[in-house]
Amino acid sequence: MAILSNGHQWKYSEFLDNKDYSFDKDQILRSISKDDIDDAYNSISKWEGYAPTPLISLNKLSKELSLKNIFYKDEDKRFDLKSFKALGGAYAVEKVTKGNKDIVVATATAGNHGRSVSWGARRLGLKCKIFISEFVSEARGQAMSDLGADVIKVKGNYEKSLIECIKQSTENNWQIVQDVAWKDYMLVPKYTMAGYSVMMREIIDQINNEKITHIILQAGVGGMAGAMVAGIARYLDNVPTTIVVEPDSAACVLESIRTGKIEKIDIKRESLMGGMSCGEVSLVPWEILKHSVKHCISLPDDDIGKTMKLLGNSSFSDQQITAGENSAPGVIGLIASCEDQNVKEKLQLDQNSNVLIIGCEGDTDKEMYQKLISQN
Ligand SMILES: Cc1ncc(COP(=O)(O)O)c(C=O)c1O
Repeated sequence: MAILSNGHQWKYSEFLDNKDYSFDKDQILRSISKDDIDDAYNSISKWEGYAPTPLISLNKLSKELSLKNIFYKDEDKRFDLKSFKALGGAYAVEKVTKGNKDIVVATATAGNHGRSVSWGARRLGLKCKIFISEFVSEARGQAMSDLGADVIKVKGNYEKSLIECIKQSTENNWQIVQDVAWKDYMLVPKYTMAGYSVMMREIIDQINNEKITHIILQAGVGGMAGAMVAGIARYLDNVPTTIVVEPDSAACVLESIRTGKIEKIDIKRESLMGGMSCGEVSLVPWEILKHSVKHCISLPDDDIGKTMKLLGNSSFSDQQITAGENSAPGVIGLIASCEDQNVKEKLQLDQNSNVLIIGCEGDTDKEMYQKLISQN
């Protein structure tokens, strides 16, 4: 117990079982079809520079936790955007514009989705308008300008930036490429999620006939988690135990699973896990997640920097992994679950377990990354 037994208590805030759990592959594939999923893989795998991201064994950590394997999908290596988001927004841009070069695309973003849309627009030679709230860092805004987008800063939070994006797009006839669904706006978020599901297609080629027994999925609005569950329905013969992990300040999936309907969270404190600091689960993922997530875990921010550092200095694996703040909670959720005997037994985490964790981003904000790893 060299890494973990230094007296540090790995914390989770809440663990919840889904009383409405019933994993139904056919039902899931009614939200995102097999064809949607296959189209996304067939398109994206032909993009210039495409390569599957690595699936890294956290062999040192699995030994300490007495698990068979922990697989970490390393999205730091996703194109040159360092995040799984590259698969979603850019693919949606391609689907929406259908080869038309005169379309201007627009989106509101906390950072990584906008980077994907900007990059997707540049790939196709399209103009792009990005709306960010005043809380999005300079570095993240600059990254999108560097990709050729026109970045518009809006006073207020993410919701305000979305309202402004919709207003200006309606006035100017720009095409909105949003990853969040609302009533009458479901198709583009669905394309985005179909793009994310490419991760699962890659993983089945990478696990060497091992069976994934558990999958831990971060959630902001739930798009990534919903996409991976759709990937399970499309590609896996078995059904792993599905666990959603969220910041305790923005646990909108957990709260919705608790009551069985979409609950809106009033976020009082922005989590360090910025991409996951979302107050409401999106409609398309909710239809998938409400019955197919077995457990939810919420976490405080306390162990984020420490986890990023331990991933970075190869304490958990033979490799050094650059993991951004949104990549840490899967690892924290797993360690905290294994250290709580009740939760460990409930999840049946033991020497036969093959746990999949999504390392959804690298150092997408370099300044923040350096700050967090140097504080721990
Ligand atoms: C950078 C980033 N943004 C957002 C999210 C959340 O994705 P979604 O909003 O689709 O749930 C994650 C991971 O969960 C992430 O790593």
